[in-house]
Amino acid sequence: MNLLAIESSCDDTAAAVVRDGRTVLSNCVSSQIAMHAAYGGVVPEIASRNHIKVISALCRQAVEESGLRLDQLDAVAVTYAPGLIGAVLVGVNFAKGAAMALDVPLIPVHHVRGHIAANYITHPNLKPPFVCLCISGGTTAIVDVQDYTRMKVMGETRDDAVGECFDKVARVLGIGYPGGAPMDRLSEGGDDQKYHLPHAHVQDRELDLSFSGLKTASLNLIHNAEQKQEPLDLAAFAASFGRTVSECLVPRVMQAAAQKGYGKVAVAGGVAANRRIRQDLQRACDASGNLLFLPELSYCGDNAAMIGCQAFYEYQAGHQAGLDLNAYATRDIASG
Ligand code: KG4
Repeated sequence: MNLLAIESSCDDTAAAVVRDGRTVLSNCVSSQIAMHAAYGGVVPEIASRNHIKVISALCRQAVEESGLRLDQLDAVAVTYAPGLIGAVLVGVNFAKGAAMALDVPLIPVHHVRGHIAANYITHPNLKPPFVCLCISGGTTAIVDVQDYTRMKVMGETRDDAVGECFDKVARVLGIGYPGGAPMDRLSEGGDDQKYHLPHAHVQDRELDLSFSGLKTASLNLIHNAEQKQEPLDLAAFAASFGRTVSECLVPRVMQAAAQKGYGKVAVAGGVAANRRIRQDLQRACDASGNLLFLPELSYCGDNAAMIGCQAFYEYQAGHQAGLDLNAYATRDIASG
């Protein structure tokens, strides 16, 4: 089954052609980072307008690079939630038009389910069930992936997503946008014990997380150093911040993995590129006898190949949409 997949939930417009859920025939991304960098964050209106500008040519490019003809496409898949509503709507409406013109089924895909499916591309033998840590700019959740389309959230952030926390702290440090990758690079060789930042403990649900306290404490530490005109050891700060984030995430994922007993842990989303988190998870999985699955770096961030991959399994489970498909800013992973 050859699927044209479309992703436009935030600031990347992406189109890909994927065969049978695991083989990526083309994967095109048009990034808007340069347009939003001046504002230190994504401006929704600018994102939507630029998706409209590039989406048609990008889909054409994805089909051309796949080596297929239009009449060889069997379905069109699209991210329909969650994301910036105007941005998601651009992809959804384009996908409806494409599915109607090609006379093929339209398959709606939840963005975070797509991130999880990025692991199937990197690891052809990976099959559910497994526990997945989903960490991106908009999501922080520990998901019980019972089957390709049956999922349950075991724990999630009560406030900020971890990627948002990286981005906000990096913005105040003035080291670039989006801030996760620059923070990661800056941390190299830094003393990760030099700065002490808080770890939030969430009552009631032991697998839930919270990052707003870490964000506020980090911003206060930076501002205090500025006011006192004390130099901040940037490498040590970035390393201490990365250690703290990892110490919040890794024990909870391992606890979830122990509860489920699948023996398999995966990671998904843009923050899955973080070296400290990858390294700490590898150690924890080795020590507990779990297999760790990490997506290739090129599939950690937003892309359409992962949407095409998940769409194959959604289609097999009978999930299709009509031309009345709507876009949603928020949507539970479990409801698909
Ligand atoms: O998955 P993604 O591309 O978009 C969403 O679906 O949200 O994730 C983007 C997030 C940004 O917050 C970015 O700063 C973060 O992923 N990120 C990283 C790294 N690379 C990207 N965070 C920490 N370490 C990295 N190496």
